[in-house]
Amino acid sequence: MLSVYIRALTGMGESMGKILIKQGHLVNPASQTDKVCDILIQGNMIAEIADEISDEDAEVLDATGKIVMPGLIDLHVHLREPGFEYKETIKTGSMAAAHGGVTTICPMPNTNPVIDSPERVKDLLERARDAPVHILPVGAVTLGQQGKELADIKGMKEAGAVALSEDGKSVMDALLYRKGLLEAAKYKLPMFSHCEEKSLVDGGVMNAGAKAEELGLPGITNAVEDVIAARDIFMSKEAGNRLHLCHCSTRDSATLVEFAKKQGLPVTGEVCPHHFTMSDDEITEDHGRYKMNPPLRSREDVQALKEALRDGIMDVISTDHAPHGEEEKNQSMKKAPFGIVGIENSFAIGYTELVKRGYLTLSQLVEKMSVNPAKVLGIDKGNIAVGKTADVVVADISEEYEIDPEEFFSKGKNTPFAGKRVFGKVETTIVDGEIVYSEKRQK
Ligand code: DOR
Ligand code: ZN
Ligand code: ZN
Repeated sequence: MLSVYIRALTGMGESMGKILIKQGHLVNPASQTDKVCDILIQGNMIAEIADEISDEDAEVLDATGKIVMPGLIDLHVHLREPGFEYKETIKTGSMAAAHGGVTTICPMPNTNPVIDSPERVKDLLERARDAPVHILPVGAVTLGQQGKELADIKGMKEAGAVALSEDGKSVMDALLYRKGLLEAAKYKLPMFSHCEEKSLVDGGVMNAGAKAEELGLPGITNAVEDVIAARDIFMSKEAGNRLHLCHCSTRDSATLVEFAKKQGLPVTGEVCPHHFTMSDDEITEDHGRYKMNPPLRSREDVQALKEALRDGIMDVISTDHAPHGEEEKNQSMKKAPFGIVGIENSFAIGYTELVKRGYLTLSQLVEKMSVNPAKVLGIDKGNIAVGKTADVVVADISEEYEIDPEEFFSKGKNTPFAGKRVFGKVETTIVDGEIVYSEKRQK
C-alpha cells in the first residue's frame, strides 16, 4: 500500500516553490503537443517547457513513463454542502476531485438552501476558499428550484456563478424558462440543462425495457429526456444563449446535438462515464447502486454515445458525481435516491473504455475532460503553456488497478464500478502550482 498525500481544506497551501516535472509524456491538445519533455512550474504558473531543464532549487517529480496533462475540469458535480453534509462536504468532494486528477469543479446548486442568490454564491465561494481544487459555482434558474420565480441571475453572475442550471429537474414552465434563457444570454452564462419531462417520468426508477420488466421495476423511457432536449435546443435558439446538455444518455440526444451543431447553434453535449460504459442489461439485481438520473440505457444507446464522442458530436465528459449515504443507497431502486459517485475514476474509465477501445485518442480524451469544458465556461484553462496557471496532472496509463470505494476520499461509496479493473491511475495532481494529491509523496 502506497502512502498518499492529500491537501484538505487547510488553507496551508503554498505555491511559491518550484516543481520540475521530468521526462513525462506531455499530452496537451491546446498546443497539439504529444511528446516527452520537462516542465518547470514556478509559483502558480508554468515557467518553462523544454526537452531538458535543470533547476537545483526545484522539487523534482520523475514522470518517466507517465503522461502529463492539463488538470481535468468536471462541469457537473454535487458537493452537498450546505445542507446534506452527511453525503459530502466541500472538503471531501474537493479532495475526491484532487484524487481523480480534477483541478476545477462546478458544483450544482441543488443544496439546502439552494444556490439561488448572490449571497448563496458568495457563501459557497467563501466556504470553498481553501479547497484544494478550483470551485466554480453554478446558480439555480429559479428560486429554491421551485420553478415559480426567476432567481437573480445578474446578481449571481456578479457574485461569481459561471453557469446556470436547475439540475435535478427541468424548469417545466416553458415561459418562465424562456425568461431564464434570455437572462442567461444577456449575462453570458451558459445554461446547463438537465433534460427530464417530469410528467412522463411516472414513477420510473430505471430504463424502460426488458430488464425493468424482469426486475419488476417502473421504467423511464428515452422520450423523458429527448423531448426536453429538443425543447431546450429550440428555446435556446430563440433566446440566443449557450446551451450545454447535461448527462446525455440516449441516442436521440446525440442526434439532437448533432442537429443543433449543423445549424451552427452554440450547443454542447456532455456524457457521463457510466452512460458510455454500462447498459441496463448489466444490472444484476434491484439495488440502489444502479440508480441514477438519467438511468443506464440500452446497449444501442451506449454504443450511440461512444460514437457521438468519437465523431465530435458530444463535447464533454463530466461525472454527475452524486454522493449519497450508504443506507440510502443500500436498498431497492424503488426507494434509493438517484445518483452515483464518479469523480475519482472518471479519467480511468474514459481511458479504459474509450481510448483503449479505439473510440478516442488520448489527446481527444483530454480535450473532452479539460479543453472543451474550459471552452464551455469561457475560462483560460485546459492548457499547459508558459504563463498559464499550473493545473497539471501526472498519470500512469500502463498499470491496471481495481476500483475500490474504500480508497475514495468522497463520503459517497455508491458506484456500480466497484471491483472494475481499469487503466489510467492518477499519481499527482497540481493545482495553482501546488501538489494537492500525490500517490508517492509523504508529508
Ligand atoms: O442521478 C442524479 N443525481 N441525477 C440528478 O439529476 C441529480 C443527482 C443528485 O443530486 O443526486
Ligand atoms: Zn441532472
Ligand atoms: Zn447532477
